[in-house]
Amino acid sequence: MTILKIPIFRPNSKFMRLWEILIVSITVYNAFIVPFRISFQENFYGIWILLDLIGDTILIADILIRFHLGYFDYGEYIEDPKKIAQRYRYQLFRRHLIASFPGDLIARILLPNSLFIIALLRLYRLLRLPQFFQIFNMWETNVNVNPTLIRMCKLIVFIALITHWVACGWFLIGNSESYFGSGNSWLIENSLQSVGTTTQYINSLYWAITTLTTVGYGDIAPTTEIEIIFAVMVMFLGISMYAYIIGNVSSLISNLDAVQARYREKLDQITTYMRENKIPLTLQYKIRDYYQYRWIENRDIRDYYILDELPFPLKTKLALQLHKEVIEKVPIFQGSNPQFIEEIVMVLKPEILPPNEYIIREGNLGNEMYFIKRGLVQVFSEKTGSIYRNMVAGAFFGEIALVYEKPRTASIITLTYCELFVLYKDDFKKVLEHYPYFESHVRKIAKERYEAENK
Ligand code: CMP
Repeated sequence: MTILKIPIFRPNSKFMRLWEILIVSITVYNAFIVPFRISFQENFYGIWILLDLIGDTILIADILIRFHLGYFDYGEYIEDPKKIAQRYRYQLFRRHLIASFPGDLIARILLPNSLFIIALLRLYRLLRLPQFFQIFNMWETNVNVNPTLIRMCKLIVFIALITHWVACGWFLIGNSESYFGSGNSWLIENSLQSVGTTTQYINSLYWAITTLTTVGYGDIAPTTEIEIIFAVMVMFLGISMYAYIIGNVSSLISNLDAVQARYREKLDQITTYMRENKIPLTLQYKIRDYYQYRWIENRDIRDYYILDELPFPLKTKLALQLHKEVIEKVPIFQGSNPQFIEEIVMVLKPEILPPNEYIIREGNLGNEMYFIKRGLVQVFSEKTGSIYRNMVAGAFFGEIALVYEKPRTASIITLTYCELFVLYKDDFKKVLEHYPYFESHVRKIAKERYEAENK
């Protein structure tokens, strides 16, 4: 006998992401449709039955998938089918099984005219609702999308659901009161008893929104005791939801573009500071322009120091990634042994400079050398006025002062915005000690340049 062999799915695979989107969509579909059908008892055919069936089949397939879905236990990846099955059976299996029970199908056969019972026997599909929140919470950390956007989506669906449920509840009460109650209800009061379902739903939704947001125009008002009790409960719900939503939305919006917000705040501070200190306008423009380059062009990687608390191996990986461009461009780094690269990226400090600024001044004492990641600099002699050369990405300079312990032999000025990496003297010496290849290469270049100077 051949048994269908289902592979073990990886929790962060593309397939699982798509599957999760499908499960979320079906759960939201059910959460909207089921209460609507219970309240409005609308007869539905064709496409809706098909959608129900597709959704139900996928939810059953989800149970099968979950029996084959690997998981992480304290960082260890578990793909032993027995352990997976045991974990699932212990946690969510029963709930998912009940949520998939085809009660409505049975009711459709046994009681084809009882729309209320058919709709009611789908209510337990909503047992899947916690999974909707679980999946969203997981996306916040595991998916490469701005987590604030994901949180925003979750909040919007959540608000829409609550409002919809309240509208359905309000209609259900009005409708039952009209038939079974004292003969009065908000539906009768507003002559909405025998209008189309769309008009009834719009009016219910209108009441739900005005009551939940505590606007309460009062044009649709509760008329019976049960309606008043329901209205009071919805108002309470509205008050607590209001606080929750306002708090969340304001923090979400300010988080949505945290980088822009930080940039604007910084620029405001600097502008005020410069104005108060009567800094000349040309310098003010230059400084503002510099910030624009650093932040708007999104080139500021200095921020990676906020990750200082990371353990050493992770920090190295991060630095390697951030400095990838300079490693690729600077010839002496290419083909060097990985250990050297790892050591050097940890000590390189990024620096951004605007055009027409001195990086090095001839005759000064030197404490660091530079690698160019991006931009153009000019090496020249202030004494003789001769231009030695221009340097672009991949070149390095400032090494003579470190190798020979001499004052700077030339001046270097930026011609464009320059992104540089600085290697300080102490780090330079340490690296030099351990990596003779780097040492001989730097010494060779320093010698050539030094001799060219002193010819
Ligand atoms: P340093 O003397 O520390 O500071 C100025 C730098 O300019 C120097 O190191 C070299 O890196 C660089 N430099 C000096 N002379 C030349 C040259 N002729 N050609 C290229 N680069 C030079």
